[in-house]
Amino acid sequence: MSDPEREKSQVLVILRQAADAAEGFLSALEGDPGAPPGMDEAGERFGSGPLPEWGVGGTVAIDELVRLGVPAATRSAGPRFFHFVTGGATPAALAADWLTSTLDQNSFSWASSPLGSRSEQVALAWLKELCELPPEWGAVLTSGATMANFTALAAARRWWGLEHGRDVDADGLCGLPELAVLSSGYVHASVIKALAMLGIGRSRVRRLALDAVGRLDLGALDAELRRLDGRPVLVIATAGEVNAGDFDPVPEIAELAAGRRVWLHVDGAFGLFARASGLVRELGAGIERADSVIADGHKWLNVPYDCGFAFVRDPALMHGTFAATGAPYLPVGSDAHPSHSDHGPEMSRRARSLAVWATLKAYGRVGHREMIDRHISLAKRVGEQVDADPDLELLAPVRLNVVCFRYRPRGAREERLDELNRRLGDAIQADGRVYFGTTRYGERVAFRPAISNWRTTETDVDLIVEITKELGSRLSATS
Ligand SMILES: Cc1ncc(COP(=O)(O)O)c(C=O)c1O
Repeated sequence: MSDPEREKSQVLVILRQAADAAEGFLSALEGDPGAPPGMDEAGERFGSGPLPEWGVGGTVAIDELVRLGVPAATRSAGPRFFHFVTGGATPAALAADWLTSTLDQNSFSWASSPLGSRSEQVALAWLKELCELPPEWGAVLTSGATMANFTALAAARRWWGLEHGRDVDADGLCGLPELAVLSSGYVHASVIKALAMLGIGRSRVRRLALDAVGRLDLGALDAELRRLDGRPVLVIATAGEVNAGDFDPVPEIAELAAGRRVWLHVDGAFGLFARASGLVRELGAGIERADSVIADGHKWLNVPYDCGFAFVRDPALMHGTFAATGAPYLPVGSDAHPSHSDHGPEMSRRARSLAVWATLKAYGRVGHREMIDRHISLAKRVGEQVDADPDLELLAPVRLNVVCFRYRPRGAREERLDELNRRLGDAIQADGRVYFGTTRYGERVAFRPAISNWRTTETDVDLIVEITKELGSRLSATS
């Protein structure tokens, strides 16, 4: 096979082939392990060989992808995948995502896609409603929380420059003083990465942590703001940190920031959704007082990878950074016909909004509240099981959807526990029935399963403790 034009008549045949494969995959997903046996070996084998001179054609390529590729896929779309913070794809989101590729819209501007432009405008307005953020804030969809942090912090950088009388997006940072960034130990690696990409610098962040876990030292923040003596400064708070789902004290930080030249950014990659919960709404208090906040779509919203969103109080700062200029062929956005590429880093953009719009339309405020609250209740259930078990130790209260714990069999020596838990983490992943990883919580190696898939039920989460204990006692017996 050569020029794809020759395969025009095969489009629907190949799509049906993909739909059949999807049917097989999805119908097995509920009972599947978090990772299939032999996944790593399948991954190492997949797709090798040189670039074909003559193509094999779509049917053969897709057949190979399904037969040899799917065995190398984690079941991250399924209910027993608890690693990182991973959402699935709701039925409406998945179907909309299929259509996104079929329609192949460029959500750059109204001219490139009225559907992409309008659905993004509506989806972002609904997300603000869901998370109770002011409707007038600027907003944009991104590829995830990392790029959302980048987007929001680019707006912060612009603000900071203007505070110094400089348009940094026009004239750069050269000659300006160092930019002070204050945060807690909860600050996420993606924020650090964003600061590097923005030319602010990874090492500019001062982590004002009370303890090894990373909790914010509010007194130190207050002292540091006084020491900076009125200079403009970025303060970065985390709503929902990765190890235990804890929150920086955003209302208190907002109080300290009030009346000062502070840009308060909140990384709420999954924690922002606490504001949509009926159980833990108060955890998200004060976020509306920030200057910017971000979240992920592919985490708790359960739309397919990849999707995130950034909200910025002053939309002009987003436009000032991201509007593309100097190309007469490019259309100019308006309120009625927005160009979302003017508010975020990419110009050509996938229409991620279709999946966001569809899932919000399909399940509404109540559906999302129920899903989020179900996950929180499931996490608390696992927390209670851990707490009640003499061979397990809950390391932090379950506040949200992450359970931070370790295996501590009766009689085990403290100095052996890190190594034991690290090996147990490897064993859990090799076993694959449930899938989660280890972290370092304070001084200790710990597990941090996170529950955020729309399919997950009690049956699935009950395996967390059961399998940890089963593999743990096997490991203890052989060591
Ligand atoms: C608090 C927080 N911020 C940012 C990120 C980065 O998200 P993404 O991988 O979607 O870019 C994560 C991901 O786990 C996170 O938990």
